[in-house]
Amino acid sequence: MDASLEKKLIETITPLYKKGRDGDWEHILRTVDLCRYLLKHENGDPNIVLPAAYLHDLGWSVVDYADFNAATPLEKTKTISFMQHMEQGAILAGKILNDLSYDETKTREIQRIIKIHDLPETVFKKPNINATLVVEADRLDRYGKTGITRFKTMFGKGKITGPYWEEARQLRKEGLKMWFITPTAGHLAQKLATEMGLFD
Ligand SMILES: [Fe+2]
Repeated sequence: MDASLEKKLIETITPLYKKGRDGDWEHILRTVDLCRYLLKHENGDPNIVLPAAYLHDLGWSVVDYADFNAATPLEKTKTISFMQHMEQGAILAGKILNDLSYDETKTREIQRIIKIHDLPETVFKKPNINATLVVEADRLDRYGKTGITRFKTMFGKGKITGPYWEEARQLRKEGLKMWFITPTAGHLAQKLATEMGLFD
């Protein structure tokens, strides 16, 4: 992605993310870094993958996510705000990229990715490397030491023990088989899972 465009994009979205969920902006920066790493080893268009990574969670800044936070880890995907954040995120991304005069075809692809970015099964059904890398990078950020920190920031320190965390741990273990299809992401996920003590 062109450096001046990236700068403008960051200037536009930083204040919006600060209005969203705690820790989301830091999550976005890590997701972008993870995408850059995946792009070194896998095919994919940086002009689609990187803007999509920057914009993918913007929807949380305009939806009421109380139901998402209140749900157990396994039930979160059934909440209304979970679906809304993808729909609203795609709309916001379209507006922002249009304002920056971004390529229209690429903008539409970015919007399509954002609309389904939290539905790995849907994304992996239709092979598309750009969507795949965004999903993988986003999910990779649930692992490693930073994955634990992020979990505490989002759901509270008290949620890192007991049944809530056990459910989340189990989800991450199963996710190792379901959320990564490129070899690069698969290897990194295993490494980060070990680092966070998922197999202890
Ligand atoms: Fe995300």
